[in-house]
Amino acid sequence: MTTYKTPLRYPGGKQRLWPFLDEILTANNLLGGHYVEPYAGGAGIAFELLLRKRVSHVHLNDSCIGVHAFWHSILNETENFCRKISRASLTVDEWKRQREVFKVRHVADRLDLGFAMFYLNRCNRSGILTGGVIGGLSQTGKWKIDARFPRNELITRIEAIAAKRASIKIRNWDAERFLIDYLPRLPVKTLVYCDPPYFHKADRLYPNHYKATDHARISKVIQTRVKLPWVVSYDSCPDVLAHYRERRAFQYMLQYNAARAYKGAEVFIFSDKVDLPPGSAIAAINDGLRAVA
Ligand SMILES: C[S@@+](CC[C@H](N)C(=O)[O-])C[C@H]1O[C@@H](n2cnc3c(N)ncnc32)[C@H](O)[C@@H]1O
Repeated sequence: MTTYKTPLRYPGGKQRLWPFLDEILTANNLLGGHYVEPYAGGAGIAFELLLRKRVSHVHLNDSCIGVHAFWHSILNETENFCRKISRASLTVDEWKRQREVFKVRHVADRLDLGFAMFYLNRCNRSGILTGGVIGGLSQTGKWKIDARFPRNELITRIEAIAAKRASIKIRNWDAERFLIDYLPRLPVKTLVYCDPPYFHKADRLYPNHYKATDHARISKVIQTRVKLPWVVSYDSCPDVLAHYRERRAFQYMLQYNAARAYKGAEVFIFSDKVDLPPGSAIAAINDGLRAVA
């Protein structure tokens, strides 16, 4: 099946779960409506749904200034961005330069920062921005710095997304503010998918992450302030299940790779407004996914 791949590699990326969100849209008569990700990251599901015309508009938000600079630049400076991809030098010296731009991200030029984020995402192990370069500084590993940088393919993905720019809104807010202030502006025919940073080990994966108290607070905001139908996903653990104990949830196994491949138990949680698709939809997501409860 064709996939409309996001240009970003994302630790914990959920792109392959898009058929499940599609089933939820269908079961809740939300096809053709708006779709929101307050923790967008690579936004793989959002672009699958938009480019397949399953939703008419997507609203993305991420508090990481580098992630925002990337999405903003590919939408508003598409040609310049793609030229940078064509001309990028894939060497350790250039990687060090891009790492410096990302380090001073709060004062960097937005296009330069968006590109630095992208470069590190594509050239670092597992796409971890603060991680090491593929192949190591000596480039003696089996895979080298350019292993995940297929220029033409990445340009094609970016151009496909940029062509839909009129249907895409991107914000750089804290999710709590976004949930409280932005969502009420949206039509009732909207689905909100929250994929917060993992409860465990997120500090290894993303520059922006939550402490346990933040997870508790945001769970209250989602459950009391969000009036639109919503879905949340998490790494499954007792604290998360406790925060959402009054909501329906199901756990599943998702194979992902961040530093090493392993199977993690994840959970989807649903607002009371969401009708669940029939059980078969869960099995259909793909082989890496299986309902365990
Ligand atoms: C699990 S990742 C999202 C992955 C995404 N669903 C995908 O498929 O690529 C979580 C994202 O939340 C962002 N984030 C962390 N804290 C945030 C906050 N307080 N407000 C908004 N975004 C935040 C991180 O920068 C990261 O991109």
